[in-house]
Amino acid sequence: MIGVFDSGLGGLSVLAALVEALPQADFVYYADTAHVPYGNKSEAQIQRRVLAIGEHLANEGCRLLVVACNTATATAVHALRAAHPGMPVVGVEPGIKPAAQETRTGRIAVLTTEATARSQRLRKLVRDHAHRVEVVVEPCPGWATHVEMLQLDDPALAADVSARIEPLLDRGVDRIVLGCTHYSFLAPLLKQAIGTRAQLVDVADAVARQARRLAADLAHGSGRLLLQASAHPERLRAALPRLHLGHIAARLT
Ligand code: DGL
Repeated sequence: MIGVFDSGLGGLSVLAALVEALPQADFVYYADTAHVPYGNKSEAQIQRRVLAIGEHLANEGCRLLVVACNTATATAVHALRAAHPGMPVVGVEPGIKPAAQETRTGRIAVLTTEATARSQRLRKLVRDHAHRVEVVVEPCPGWATHVEMLQLDDPALAADVSARIEPLLDRGVDRIVLGCTHYSFLAPLLKQAIGTRAQLVDVADAVARQARRLAADLAHGSGRLLLQASAHPERLRAALPRLHLGHIAARLT
């Protein structure tokens, strides 16, 4: 079984890519809905949650963990790996490297939570892979919560998305990296704000390919999916069609 987790619904965007890459594998998806959002929490709080969820998923029989959350990866993937030395752990990091390679204007932006924006790990990612380009780190408070509440058509959110994107485009940014898994569900709104002036960069497929490389012996299960949450687990199943993931529901046991 492959364990996938996030603070809430955001990681379902990664789960969708995983299910496509590993159609026969068995998955358990854990949403930490009692503690969402992680973006405004301290490093210590996020680490505590990540370690508790890792422990839980290991006890459920998971043999590979996918941290489907940029904030949890940036803050706690090292602690999770240290706690489970024998377990492969795949994290999610913003696609700064491909964006830096592909930009034509030499300016890229990364949309993240507040916690990811101030993390050492993001700074290192920029230093290692994007030192030749200008990188604008744009924290987007409240966006993950809108996704969590399934308020995807809220005009106030659309206005905030435009207000954040417009200045980036005016600065000549031509690649906009999704640095939070919740933001994949805002892609239609973001594309509306961006038009043809820039491209979105999402790493969900790359994460799924990495998991497939590490999951060779887990690839052949019975294609089952278990949804779990620390609060309101019933909301997860109900959210699937709203997030255009109704096809995944067929796997639920
Ligand atoms: N989905 C998460 C991420 O990728 C975190 C959102 C939140 O809980 O603030 O960063």
